[in-house]
Amino acid sequence: MKTLQDASDLAGKKVIVRVDFNVPLDDEGNVRNDKRIRHALPTLKFLLDAEVAQIILMTHVGRPKNNEENLKTDKIATKLSEYLEMEVIKVDDWGENGLPDAKVIMLENLRFHPGEKSKDETEVEAFSRQLASLADIYVNEAFSNSHRKHASMMLPKLMDGYAGLGVEKEVSAITKALENPEHPVVAVIGGLKADKLTAINNLLDKVDDILVAGALAFTLLKAKGKNMGASKIDDEGLGAMGDLLEKVNASDKVHLPVDCIVADSFSEDANSKEVSVDEVEDGWMALDIGPETVGQYVAKLKKAKTILWFGPIGVFEMEKFSHGTKMIGHTIAEADAISIVGGGDSASAVEKMGLEDQITLVSTGGGASLKMIEGKELPAIKLLS
Ligand code: 3PG
Repeated sequence: MKTLQDASDLAGKKVIVRVDFNVPLDDEGNVRNDKRIRHALPTLKFLLDAEVAQIILMTHVGRPKNNEENLKTDKIATKLSEYLEMEVIKVDDWGENGLPDAKVIMLENLRFHPGEKSKDETEVEAFSRQLASLADIYVNEAFSNSHRKHASMMLPKLMDGYAGLGVEKEVSAITKALENPEHPVVAVIGGLKADKLTAINNLLDKVDDILVAGALAFTLLKAKGKNMGASKIDDEGLGAMGDLLEKVNASDKVHLPVDCIVADSFSEDANSKEVSVDEVEDGWMALDIGPETVGQYVAKLKKAKTILWFGPIGVFEMEKFSHGTKMIGHTIAEADAISIVGGGDSASAVEKMGLEDQITLVSTGGGASLKMIEGKELPAIKLLS
């Protein structure tokens, strides 16, 4: 992989940098968590120190349907300018009419442009060409979007492309951890979406145990015939998984919760209780794993030598339902193991608990790092070699 350190003669060059500033925003477009912005700072400072002529930043934000006002990149540009202590000029397009003569420029949300993730390859290529024409050099500092073949990720097909410092760090840490992982390897897979079954299936021959949590676990329990009451269930996602469910269920490596914390509404002051997964009543929803499950999962994690954690365990934003996440997070942090945590929610939980320094790698990308761990090639990373 060509990294920024290999790029000679950056001085005076125009550099287009694909960042992933897909950060949580409120209804007014204000940044609620700027972790991904902070993550890109070393690369941007490196380029500024190298005296490049111009940095053109491009990112997607959210999954827009109608170019929603609150998904514009304006407030992200403002937040970045605070960190860089210099002006970041936001433009409302993608350079079709030229760009202002400024040191740092932020383009509009890439996903407002139909070419970014079009199904029509010629449309994608045309947008890639337009973006490539803006600069001399391309930098990928968007590891978390590198599993996507979107127009802005494909520029190294057309121009000199390098991995940013963050991409270099994430790719090498994951590669190193998985080259010859010390066993037992234990994966904790949580979150909502049933499409993580693909990842679970791909991990079966690489890991010793898979501890399933979050709404995903309750979806799998319901598929096994348990009554999960009013719990959030991804039936639609599960429907698309075909015979994977059967394969995953047949493996003795995959562990599901035996108990959970249920609540009578989705709120901090809901009534709640611990129940076995066989005793969830109608109208109650599971919002965390229960103490017996925590005990079983913690015991597995304590023996692990390599740990992978993707996706939240419970609704950790609410104190009442954060016990599972805290116990799993602290156990991983204290384990004598290589640990990789991926995905926005798990990374936020780790940050909130102040455990970042005790984790080998907290990856900015959930989907991207999970794909890499599954042994899949990331198309945008491949282009950098
Ligand atoms: C992420 O948040 O994982 C990346 O920004 C990719 O976003 P996407 O899942 O909407 O493609």
